[in-house]
Amino acid sequence: MTVRVLFVCLGNICRSPMAEGIFRQLVADAGLSDAILIDSAGTSNYHAGEPAHPGTRRVLAKHGISYDNRARQIQRTDVVHPDTYVIAMDQENILDLRRQFGDLPRLYRLLDFASTTAVRDVPDPYYSNNFDQVYRLVEEGCKGLLVTIRSDEKLD
Ligand code: 4NP
Repeated sequence: MTVRVLFVCLGNICRSPMAEGIFRQLVADAGLSDAILIDSAGTSNYHAGEPAHPGTRRVLAKHGISYDNRARQIQRTDVVHPDTYVIAMDQENILDLRRQFGDLPRLYRLLDFASTTAVRDVPDPYYSNNFDQVYRLVEEGCKGLLVTIRSDEKLD
């Protein structure tokens, strides 16, 4: 059975591509690439068709992760499988997703899975330019998410 994970932010150029790149690397390192399908999207179409923000690509590259996907807006087809883990970056994303799609049974904030920080919203580096700080938070959340998925989906 394939597990689906969709990371969501506002523009799909900064935070959700970062999460997608980091999580894909963690999943590959765990030998689980065939078991977990990973994607990302934005709640808006503001940057649809654009490459990820240079800051996101730079910080991913610094950690040995390449990322070439283009930004896109989330569609209903992304959430037709009720078992998809929809992982939002902040509370605004959660509210936007609920407004668009109603109740999603597996809708979480990424930092709900982070145990060493009390921060729950991934700050938007589009405004702060603090891509290194955001990387550390996103990595922490992604590690916790993988632990949860491995346990809940019985993947070893
Ligand atoms: P992201 O960052 O949601 O992490 O991709 C943003 C990108 C673009 C805008 C806001 C946040 N914008 O307002 O265009």
